[in-house]
Amino acid sequence: MISHASAELAQARALLAPALGQRGGLCVLTGAGMSAESGIPAFRDALTGYWAQFDPMELASEGGFRANPQRVWTWYAERRQGGQQTQPNAGHHALADLARRRPGVLTLVTQNVDDLHQRAGNTDAIQLHGDILQDRWLDPCPRQARGGNVCSTEGAQAGQPPRCGECGNLLRPGVVWFGEALPLGAISAAEQAAQHCAVMLVVGTSGAVWPAAGLAGLARRHGAQVLIVNPAPSEIDGQAHQVLRGTAATVLPALLA
Ligand code: APR
Repeated sequence: MISHASAELAQARALLAPALGQRGGLCVLTGAGMSAESGIPAFRDALTGYWAQFDPMELASEGGFRANPQRVWTWYAERRQGGQQTQPNAGHHALADLARRRPGVLTLVTQNVDDLHQRAGNTDAIQLHGDILQDRWLDPCPRQARGGNVCSTEGAQAGQPPRCGECGNLLRPGVVWFGEALPLGAISAAEQAAQHCAVMLVVGTSGAVWPAAGLAGLARRHGAQVLIVNPAPSEIDGQAHQVLRGTAATVLPALLA
């Protein structure tokens, strides 16, 4: 693991320095590892990861939801509740502090559906994979299709999952499931930021899921330096100019101070 006084950290801070004086100079991409030290499990950890315990196609796909809406809704409700009992860690706070100290320098892109970045202060974080605190209708609203206003999700009748009293439509978590497209605005803003940054800092992602995993390579192809923070090897290490083997909550405060 990296020590705070190490030459590696000094090298990484030197790599980062030019970006900190530039508007949009730093693009940060985070994954589940960012929230691990807050107590939210990652997905692909062999022991504690969600996908080590559950089949992602049963719990994180539209087909899985339609096959068993109650089970999927309950799982997300438990994750949502669990997430609300966690707090941003020192890594989240280091990114929020940087954004306060250097307005306009940081573009924060996250694959995480929790709200820990926002609670730390990065309220403009780009959420590529949606938001676990938001619900939406499973199907297009029939009333809207008939020319009326879309039914309000607030008015949904209680249930697991809740259902529209008028159309019978089910509520589903506002997250991106496997096989689904990312929110257009989010992915295009992330690609713009990757193409124009001087440094891409990648924290706590295995790089297993695209298109998010492609952002580091995109940034590198557009001349950015790529820096990775991860205690273990990831699928995108090959894109990095430097890899810091450590955790988000221990490395980011020292790196961004
Ligand atoms: N600090 C930094 N990195 C960590 C830490 C930590 N404390 N703990 C674990 N990691 C690293 C792991 O080594 C791993 O490379 O975080 C990574 C987590 O990888 P995944 O579990 O695959 O999570 P992520 O990359 O965010 O997954 C991408 O896949 O399941 C979907 O939609 C889901 O957004 C998610 C996407």
